[in-house]
Amino acid sequence: MNIVEEYKSALRNYLHNGGEESLRRAYELGRKAIAEDLGSIDMIITHQQALQELLRAARTADDSAQLTEAASTFLAEMFSPFEMTFLGFRDALNTIQQSEERYRTMIESAQDVIYTLSTDGIIKSLNPVFEKVTGWKPSDWIGKSFTSLVHPEDLPFALSMFERVVGGETPPVFEIRLRSKSGEYLVGEFTTSPESYNGKAIGVFGIARDITERKRVQDQLRALAKRVVEAQEEERRRLARELHDDLCQWLSGLKLSLGLLEEPSKYKSIQNKLRQLKQQVNTRIIEVRRMSINLRPSALDDFGLNIALERLCEDYEKIHEIKITFNANDLTAERYSSEVEIAIYRIVQEALWNIIKHAKASKAGVRLFQINKTIVLEVRDNGIGIDHKKAKSQKSQDGGLGLISMKERSEVLGGKFQVESSPGKGTKIRTELPVESSRS
Ligand SMILES: Nc1ncnc2c1ncn2[C@@H]1O[C@H](COP(=O)(O)OP(=O)(O)OP(=O)(O)O)[C@@H](O)[C@H]1O
Ligand SMILES: [Mg+2]
Repeated sequence: MNIVEEYKSALRNYLHNGGEESLRRAYELGRKAIAEDLGSIDMIITHQQALQELLRAARTADDSAQLTEAASTFLAEMFSPFEMTFLGFRDALNTIQQSEERYRTMIESAQDVIYTLSTDGIIKSLNPVFEKVTGWKPSDWIGKSFTSLVHPEDLPFALSMFERVVGGETPPVFEIRLRSKSGEYLVGEFTTSPESYNGKAIGVFGIARDITERKRVQDQLRALAKRVVEAQEEERRRLARELHDDLCQWLSGLKLSLGLLEEPSKYKSIQNKLRQLKQQVNTRIIEVRRMSINLRPSALDDFGLNIALERLCEDYEKIHEIKITFNANDLTAERYSSEVEIAIYRIVQEALWNIIKHAKASKAGVRLFQINKTIVLEVRDNGIGIDHKKAKSQKSQDGGLGLISMKERSEVLGGKFQVESSPGKGTKIRTELPVESSRS
């Protein structure tokens, strides 16, 4: 039976017999009508048809009036689910309106630029802070492609990120330079995600933060740190030269003079004393030479990174019981800037020293290679691995600085530093530094 027939039969039943049960039936029919997507007009028409049929059977005008009144009660009961649905809709609409209001206030008062793009890269919306940050009015750009705002060098990267987001990905935060109205470029930090509807990407939603000032301060700090490292190295170079040229020469002279005095002499005890003194001077000369090399490896200045590192590994191998292999690919035979060379040399020095001090390793390897414009250094050992608990407690006691200084040296040069270690499986440190062309 369709709903129209059902309605007629239920109404008939109500008009003949009355009763709560029949009214409940009216209520159920109302719910059914909503579930079947029938509108209120459909139901009024159904009601009219049913009533007319029933009125034909009425004998007197009084009967008709009674029937019509009872039918109205039935109709009202049938409509009560419609009424409730309507009220529910109104509440939902209010909630949506309120949340849209909140959303709009949030976007309009945000400190960051909030924007949306269509899937073909057209700017669809921009919040007011865009003008404060870039000098452009949102209306200058809405409806235009975002690509003309991007620094030409950053455009391929910006497009690749855009493609990823349109493809449904949420990429990690990234940086892109944007042209401001004054012509200057600003650095923006972007957080983006796909805007989708019914599971389909319809555009890009993004938040951009102006980090130009933060970048500038970072660059200044980096430049300052670089100057400090340079000044330190210069000081070490001078000290190394003094140690080597003055003290070592003087000690060597003294050793020679002592040797001359060692000629056969009747004063046996003096002779013995002189021999002892000569030995001590000899030890000091070796010591001073080692200190001087540590302060500033002259091999680095004279022969370049590969040979200096090879010698460093050999020195460690000679003094300590460990096998150290050194590998480098051909590209690394060229000269890098002295900051890069000294950073790599010092990192290897620190890393090897850590291996000797902590690793209990029988083998270590130093590997240096260049891929495109990145130079990669890896120092690994087959020792006990870093005990992070121990390292942490040592840090609080005497503040181990080796790993920190390796990381800082890498970051000052715009590079990355990583430590990989697991108990019993050894340790690997890896640093990647960007390199320009070879030293001019
Ligand atoms: N190759 C390694 N094998 C095992 N443990 C290591 C290795 N390198 C570092 N560690 C652990 O990590 C800690 C931190 O190393 P870091 O070089 O920072 O400090 P340190 O060597 O203790 O002191 P500093 O280098 O200042 O003389 C070490 O104390 C050690 O416990
Ligand atoms: Mg150390």
